Amino acid sequence: MKIPKYVGAFKGKDFLNTQDFTQEKIKQILDAADDLKRKFRSREPTPYLPGRTLFMIFYNRSLRTRNSFEAGMYQLGGHAHFLSPQDLYTPTLPEDMVPYATESISDVARVLSRYGNAIAIRIYGDPAKWTIGRGHRVIEEFAKWGEIPVLNMEDDLYHPFQALADIQAARETEPKLQGKKFVVSYAYSGGLKPLAVPQSEVLITTQFGMDVVLAHPKGFELEDSAIKAAKDNAKRYGGSFEIVNDMKKAFEGADFVYPKAWSPKQFVPPHSKTVDKEGASAYQGKFKDWITTPELLDITNKAHYMHCGPADRGQEVTDEVLDKYERSLYFDEAENRLHVQKAVMAMFMP
Ligand code: CP
Repeated sequence: MKIPKYVGAFKGKDFLNTQDFTQEKIKQILDAADDLKRKFRSREPTPYLPGRTLFMIFYNRSLRTRNSFEAGMYQLGGHAHFLSPQDLYTPTLPEDMVPYATESISDVARVLSRYGNAIAIRIYGDPAKWTIGRGHRVIEEFAKWGEIPVLNMEDDLYHPFQALADIQAARETEPKLQGKKFVVSYAYSGGLKPLAVPQSEVLITTQFGMDVVLAHPKGFELEDSAIKAAKDNAKRYGGSFEIVNDMKKAFEGADFVYPKAWSPKQFVPPHSKTVDKEGASAYQGKFKDWITTPELLDITNKAHYMHCGPADRGQEVTDEVLDKYERSLYFDEAENRLHVQKAVMAMFMP
């Protein structure tokens, strides 16, 4: 069996945010993902990580992420090990350590480093106390102490594997992304949701030189750091980045639309002293008309509909769009999670 050159190309590195990599390096990952997708479809074996172990710590639930990592690691000849934090001693940040009651992230990361080849973590929302940035800090703490690559399976700031899967799906349908209008829009949902997906979407699409429009009602601003990075990307990679407060205006002439719920941040720390779930829900309730319907898609340039999943039916999007819209990429994005994750594991894991 011939081992492709990309196997081990980024050996030992962490994968926490797409912004940590240039467009050229992201393209290398996507090319590897395309190769693995082709081989998966033709049932060509890809045992590039024999005997390797991935530890997956899920502080939150998952359908796509857990199952695509587990299946992907098996297809690469290795094993993915599922861990819920309560089955460990709840890996904890230094400032929250209760003597004799918990185990520090620094210890957990170093112990797991002796057993396997990468640690993947998902943490946002309640386990991160709905404090924006806290989930990301947990993953950074793992990366600081881990002696093997740390992979971000979604925190409260970024969802980098979703961004990779989405840009793979986008370039499969439109090989030249530069100059295409990509809309990342707020969509209504009743519950609190992290900023990770919209932030990672504006980052990856500006990194590919697209004309990116971020649409949301007032009060749903993304973090300043993500906005600055998206603006910098647009300048560096020759695209544009604009923010509007009108969903319909944003959809006009769009080539891709990505309508997705996230939370109004003035109701959660550090932008608020406490977590006000009721206040957030009442505020979100004012924007129930931010829903994707066939009529709204009619004003686009035959846009591809995108969503990371799970989409809230009847809130973010109608059944008709999810089940019948021909230019939906919803299931391609879900499938591509498998291929991009296999690419990163094959390239990054020692
Ligand atoms: N998009 C995504 O991460 O899906 P899961 O929450 O099902 O893993």
